[in-house]
Formats: sequence, structure tokens, C-alpha cells
Amino acid sequence: MISTKKILKKKSNTPIVCLTAYSQNIAKIADKYCDIILVGDSLGMVLYGMRTTRDVKIDTMIVHAKAVKNFTKKSLVVFDMPYKTYENKFLAYKNAKRVMKLTKCDAIKLEGGVKIVNIIKHLVKKGIPVMGHIGLLPQTTNNFKVKGINLNQRKQILKDALAISKAGAFAIVIECVVENLAKEITKNVSIPTIGIGASKYCDGQILVTEDMLGLSNSLPKFVKQYGNLNKVIEKYVKKYAKDVKMKRFPSHKNIYK
Ligand code: KIV
Repeated sequence: MISTKKILKKKSNTPIVCLTAYSQNIAKIADKYCDIILVGDSLGMVLYGMRTTRDVKIDTMIVHAKAVKNFTKKSLVVFDMPYKTYENKFLAYKNAKRVMKLTKCDAIKLEGGVKIVNIIKHLVKKGIPVMGHIGLLPQTTNNFKVKGINLNQRKQILKDALAISKAGAFAIVIECVVENLAKEITKNVSIPTIGIGASKYCDGQILVTEDMLGLSNSLPKFVKQYGNLNKVIEKYVKKYAKDVKMKRFPSHKNIYK
């Protein structure tokens, strides 16, 4: 199994490959190629059609995380703590401890910077590995635009990165920030940066698997779509429907005598 120590050693060395997974099917494939598998709260929108990740419940995440972790042999599995489950260090620890016990995940991810430093320190002190998440923060923003264009925002995001790194996180996701800011952060923090819409200068990359497979509907510019599974699935569903209507399915091969 890949440990957080191994992830740390990859900084400025070997690009870190990460993807999301919410099910055993994707986990089994991702595990062959990824260093980190994130059970992301993006599942609310991707799987359940929610409008934001704010509606995702911790128990829903636990069910998916169990499936992912049970079918992952090599990758580090990170559990994305949903909205309002880590509002203070005591609540964060109570929830994270339960998550780690029930899912056997290897680490948790929290969104936020300077404001959550005490929470990160507390969790790390209690033995829970933490991955940070800065830049665009889907749990708390209503403004889904690229971050780091104006100077104040840039300074704040850099401060957030430095604070999280010092607090003891083992890696930071940087979401949707301008290239030169991602480069500056990556140069200045001691832990690996994992970019999603944050340029090739990060130490690793992550995408939502359904986005890159072409299973999601609207995609941000930073997603590279490697295929269009929506089309592929539709093709087979259409074929099946036709077979049923034409009484071509089930055939003699699919029945019991
Ligand atoms: O929830 C998620 O999938 C994430 C990634 C986009 C990093 O947080």
C-alpha cells in the first residue's frame, strides 16, 4: 500500500496520479494506475444529481468509501469530509474517527486554509492523516470562477497553502487557480500539491473520473475528456431496447432448459 510518507517523497520527483472513485468498479481500475484514490463529495452532484456538494451526508459517503476501500489494494484512499462535518476540532475529530473506523480509509480531506489550521493540527496530533484543499472551495463558494487573479486573493491562497503545510497536512489539492500561483505555491510548500485546474506545475493531478470519461454533462475547461462513455452507454442501451422489442433477447443462449 502507498503510504502518506511515500506520497510526501514524490514531491518534486515523480508526478502523483490521483482520481476519484465512488464504487468498487472504478476503484479496481484506478487502483492499478493511481497513487491516490479520493472518495470525493463530488459524488453528490455526479452520482446523485444534487445541485451542490453541500447536500452530501456523511453516511452516504461512508457507504461509498467502504466499497472503494474494500476493492483497493495499492492506492492511498482519501475520504472527503462533507460540508459541516468539521466545523470545529472536536466535531472534526469525532466524525473523522468514525469515518476511519468504519471505512478503513487511509486519510481524510478538508476544504479550507488558514481558518481550519487548528482543526488540521488537532487531527494530525490524534493520528489522522489530512489532505488539504485550497483555491476554489465547492463546499463554501457560490462563485465557481478561477481563483488567484486579483492580488489579495493570490496572497490569501498562498497564505492558506503555507498554513496547511505547516499544520501537518501530507498534501494539498489546489482547485482552479491561475497557473503562476499554482507554480509559486508548489515551489514554496514542503508538501506535494495536487492540481485540479491548477496547471502542470503541481506535483500531481486529480480529476473527477466521471468527468474525464465523459459521463458528466457540463465540464469546466480544466477537464480533459478522454472518451465519451455517455455515448457508448446510450448505444448499448438503445441496442438492448431494440432487442427486447424485436424479441431478439433473450435468445437460446440466455435461457435455462
Ligand atoms: O469532491 C471531489 O471530487 C474533489 C475533487 C474535485 C478534488 O474534491
